[in-house]
Amino acid sequence: MPHLCLNAISKHFDKFTALDSVSLAIPDGAFLALLGPSGCGKTTLLRLIAGLEHPDQGEIRFDDQLVAGDAVFVPPEKRRVGMVFQSYALWPTMTVRKNIEFGLKVAGLTVQERNQRIDEVLDVVGLRGLDGRRPHELSGGQRQRVALARSLATRPQLILLDEPLANLDAHLREAMLAEFRRIHSLTGATFVFVTHDQDEAMAVATHVAVLDRGRLQQLGTPEELYRQPSSSMVARFIGRGRTLPVQVVESGAGRTKVMLGQQLLDMPGEAPTGYGWLCCHASDFKRVPEGGHLKVELLGQVFQNGVFLSHCLPTEIDGDVVSLPLEERLAPGTSIELVLTGGWVIGDGGTGQTWAGRVTGRSSTCRSAVISVS
Ligand SMILES: Nc1ncnc2c1ncn2[C@@H]1O[C@H](COP(=O)(O)OP(=O)(O)OP(=O)(O)O)[C@@H](O)[C@H]1O
Ligand SMILES: [Mg+2]
Repeated sequence: MPHLCLNAISKHFDKFTALDSVSLAIPDGAFLALLGPSGCGKTTLLRLIAGLEHPDQGEIRFDDQLVAGDAVFVPPEKRRVGMVFQSYALWPTMTVRKNIEFGLKVAGLTVQERNQRIDEVLDVVGLRGLDGRRPHELSGGQRQRVALARSLATRPQLILLDEPLANLDAHLREAMLAEFRRIHSLTGATFVFVTHDQDEAMAVATHVAVLDRGRLQQLGTPEELYRQPSSSMVARFIGRGRTLPVQVVESGAGRTKVMLGQQLLDMPGEAPTGYGWLCCHASDFKRVPEGGHLKVELLGQVFQNGVFLSHCLPTEIDGDVVSLPLEERLAPGTSIELVLTGGWVIGDGGTGQTWAGRVTGRSSTCRSAVISVS
């Protein structure tokens, strides 16, 4: 049985639909990252799970317990949920110890139980010895640990983190991410982690949910979202993916024949015949001297991690700019041929982002050989 289960959750603010029939289920002990552009509904979804908002429609269950649904609403203090915000929300005049103790007092624990829990969570977050300090005497990362310790102390079944790293510098974010992962495996609690930053999400999550304009686009493992996106939005959003417009000719048993410009390719994925997308990443392109699947013109290069990350515009189809690492510096305007060594075909249906009319160099004649890409 899933630990957290949302069934067709909708939330409106006046006439605005913040969440539109979102359903998802994650197992006990999962680390779910909620990803999506600003305003897509991530915080609203967390607040609904925490019980800080009422859904207009749908149900929320923790294991087999209905916490929100028809005529049922379990208040936040009875949900055993801990929340950590971007702003830490610590009491500025209280010491670290008092900040952590506050929720335990409210929960009615004895002094002895409270002290035992506080020492336990200070160890977990690595803040032993700093418990007498006030928030202004701590660094940003230490404050974030206090906020996490305060949530962990009440031993919640679910920890909700709303962009907890947004105020930290890049170096500290990385260190704190590793901390979150360690604390997650140590406590065994289920974490739901909201972030703008997909690298952050992919690094820590066991499950990733991508939201767009209040709708769930896809829920899966980081690898599934990267390799098998189910919509063009997810394909572009994850791993700096690119989508090339294709014509789906034939599809079945996990393989699809598509026309990419004048090339007939056999690719992984399934899609209805008609317009579709070929989803790729930089690692799916390889430069060849001639006979490539895609002709492009070099727009520019950036020297990064020892290679020239090269941005190129397809010349025979009206596709997005594609990027790939090249070994050498080349002049802008250079013509390059690329073969595809990987990719994933999806249909165009349901996204409202039809590419009809975008292909400029499409030919009605196929090359006789079908090029198969595994
Ligand atoms: N209390 C509210 N009243 C009216 N509109 C709201 C309210 N809360 C959120 N919204 C709207 O709902 C939408 C989703 O907001 P939400 O805060 O969930 O987005 P988000 O994905 O967390 O964005 P960000 O990444 O910027 O934090 C936004 O358009 C927001 O303006
Ligand atoms: Mg938010």
